Amino acid sequence: MSQSARCRSGPVSDAPASAVERWNRLSERYDAQHWLERASIRQLLDLLAPGSEDRMVDVGTGTGAVLRDLRARPVRPAELVGVDQSPRMLAQVPPLPAGWTLARGDARALPLPDAHCEVASVSYLLHLFEAADRGRVLAEVHRVLRPGGRVGVLTPYIPAGGWLAPLARAFSRLADGGSDHFIGLKALDPVPDLTAAGFAVRAVAANHRGYISVCVVGIKGS
Ligand SMILES: C[S@@+](CC[C@H](N)C(=O)[O-])C[C@H]1O[C@@H](n2cnc3c(N)ncnc32)[C@H](O)[C@@H]1O
Repeated sequence: MSQSARCRSGPVSDAPASAVERWNRLSERYDAQHWLERASIRQLLDLLAPGSEDRMVDVGTGTGAVLRDLRARPVRPAELVGVDQSPRMLAQVPPLPAGWTLARGDARALPLPDAHCEVASVSYLLHLFEAADRGRVLAEVHRVLRPGGRVGVLTPYIPAGGWLAPLARAFSRLADGGSDHFIGLKALDPVPDLTAAGFAVRAVAANHRGYISVCVVGIKGS
């Protein structure tokens, strides 16, 4: 299916052009680092366990790392939309199962109606934003989830101790320097943001295979 046939467009005007351009520029080499994300994405999906009746949104879907793992699973949601602001990241997403679509749009203004989904994933996106925009993204996720719906947020993080802690801190500092090579490694504990957005935190799981990451699952109250 052509990219234009499988991708619709939501509001994108709020995204600074430079941010979209950066991800457009990174799109062709982005998949080279998928192996570093794979174990944590698997863990995120194991914890979220989307069922065949669920509607799901993958926010900041990029080149479809979450979709790739999910489509290989025997049980997967019948309906899924992957949202991203970068058309060139979306162009790298492999063919999708029937019922799954892509939408070009801003994570801070998701192109979905209220209470549309049971499950949302936010994989390696939230740490790219400053606090106010993290709040906007999670408010949008909260809006599009039904009561009782669940969100899984995956971010790089700094472990409390051990030999990985200084390494993660060093990566995070490099990310703060603005280099394209380390852009994805800024550390963030997503628990305070999830709580502030009204989610009850149900699971926190660290994963050190590949990127030093943490996965947090939140539930929208009824
Ligand atoms: C580090 S990549 C993560 C991609 C994918 N979720 C993964 O785990 O491989 C971040 C993605 O978020 C997208 N992104 C950044 N800011 C966004 C925004 N405001 N709205 C929608 N997507 C955004 C970028 O275009 C990029 O594709």
